[in-house]
Amino acid sequence: MLKCKKCIAAFLTVILMFCLISCGEKSENSEKDENTNLIVIGFSQPGAESAWRVALTDSVREAFTEERGYKLIYKDGQSKQDNQIRDIRTFIQQGVDYIILSPIVETGWDTVLLEAKQANIPVIICDRNVVVSNESLYTAFVGSDFKSEGEKAVAFLEEKYASSEEEINIVHIKGTLDSSAQLGRTGALEKAVLEHDNWNIIAENCGEFTKAKAREIMQNILLEVDASSIDVIYCENDEEALGVMAALNEAGIAYGKDENITIISFDGTRNALEQCLNGKINYVVECNPLQGPYLFNIIEMLSAKKTVPKITYIYENAFEQEDLSEDFIKNRKY
Ligand code: AHR
Repeated sequence: MLKCKKCIAAFLTVILMFCLISCGEKSENSEKDENTNLIVIGFSQPGAESAWRVALTDSVREAFTEERGYKLIYKDGQSKQDNQIRDIRTFIQQGVDYIILSPIVETGWDTVLLEAKQANIPVIICDRNVVVSNESLYTAFVGSDFKSEGEKAVAFLEEKYASSEEEINIVHIKGTLDSSAQLGRTGALEKAVLEHDNWNIIAENCGEFTKAKAREIMQNILLEVDASSIDVIYCENDEEALGVMAALNEAGIAYGKDENITIISFDGTRNALEQCLNGKINYVVECNPLQGPYLFNIIEMLSAKKTVPKITYIYENAFEQEDLSEDFIKNRKY
């Protein structure tokens, strides 16, 4: 009996030592600081291509602060999906509590999302959406309804050119291909072109949601297309609109509210709204990057074991010159 008790004691000691060693290994490899009890969130952004995206990063950072009980690990995917997938795998290895993913493109996430699910880490998709084989691969989506954004821009054009029987020639500057922002905004325009016999897309290219790329492609378009034939330039974000305007300025081509070329933009950053107030951009459809508070609510609810909505579209507006004032723009957060 005594012998047996000794065996049990020895066995328990080995188990205890094993536990201590493995716990020690976990805190070395893990981002979790067990002493602080902070909830750890891995946040994967596709890049920092626009002022809009910087505003999204800031909004998420402001929502998940240490004072509120969170530790946020931010990763910039440098505009590559492979980097984002690698970053999510790192979060999984680190044993974070939640992952927030702003996906560069819609598809190609199934495997890594399954890995997160198997590790019991809830993933909240934000900003752009994903298309996956099984929706249980992510917990919730918070972001923009890009199709509806595109439809607002189309409605503006339909009203503006309602009485025109002439050809309406459109230059289309797309955003990052296969991102839901591009697909939604492009889809709405292409549908409208099919519905209006006199609407034509006379040039299109991808500006990658950046000012530099949009400026370059607009310079090239102007070499091939007679500027006087252009009625509309549909830019899929503010950076692209600013790049296009730079190219038009260099070429001495007038545009905007009192001219023949209508400029459409998406986002509603301060720079673009200034240009809209000045009459240079005709219509800006808002894409709201202030998503941190929405994400915060979702994660608080999940931590409280409450059911969260699968899809949350955030509120978004649209602006013409008469909707804007210097005060409004000055007080804007981004
Ligand atoms: O996904 C949102 C889009 O991505 C914004 O329109 C754009 O500025 C950003 O880069």
